[in-house]
Amino acid sequence: MLLGVNIDHIATIRQARGTAYPRPLDAALLAEQSGADSITIHLREDRRHIQDDDVNNIKANISIPLNLEMALTNEMLSIAISIAPAYCCIVPESREELTTEGGLNIKNNLDFISAGVARLAEANIKVSLFIDPDKEQIDAAIAAGAPCIEIHTGRFAEATTDAEAKQERQKIINAVNYSLKKGLTVNAGHGLNYDNTMDIANIKGINELNIGHSIVARALFVGLPEAVIEMKQLIQGAAE
Ligand code: PXP
Repeated sequence: MLLGVNIDHIATIRQARGTAYPRPLDAALLAEQSGADSITIHLREDRRHIQDDDVNNIKANISIPLNLEMALTNEMLSIAISIAPAYCCIVPESREELTTEGGLNIKNNLDFISAGVARLAEANIKVSLFIDPDKEQIDAAIAAGAPCIEIHTGRFAEATTDAEAKQERQKIINAVNYSLKKGLTVNAGHGLNYDNTMDIANIKGINELNIGHSIVARALFVGLPEAVIEMKQLIQGAAE
């Protein structure tokens, strides 16, 4: 199982003071040197953390794949097509949210999402659709022509009782198994940290976990290289 490191919150610290530091590119390079398998950045419409220049600089300087997270808008499609990241993860976005709150409703927006997936595929960008672990949304992702999905693990991460966590984990297992049978590549992420990642990393068949906030938070105390190495070891240990 691979580890994609999301470095949005390096940019959050920079934007909090309008300084030039810390540079997301430096974080991307350190994460790469420490074993990250890909770098994820979310270029939000409101540019609250990652900026357009960050996307260009990171794409130009890293050697591992770039996964660009974005809402499906004309502006973001043009940026993605001009930058050509290896992957684009399409997420729903609303301005008031603190972070991506739920998966896409592909079922209700099938034509619109299919058209976006096709435009990105023409540019040789592999598209992943961020969805809740829900069979109907998986079927809709296939109908939209996406080769890959990312399963939203937020509900699992936010569960307040063991029973609820177990139930949410089971939904993720069912979604992974169903998606694999249908030939999709399956990633997962959101809200994963050093305590709960093990329970997702030991689900067989997930290609990559995308983890951001907890790694950046841990980096404050142990440094980014150590934070990435620890998460990678945790994932590899769980998968064995
Ligand atoms: N995957 C997707 C699609 C996301 O939107 C996010 C948050 O930007 C993550 C993974 C990473 O979530 P977290 O920062 O909670 O690890």
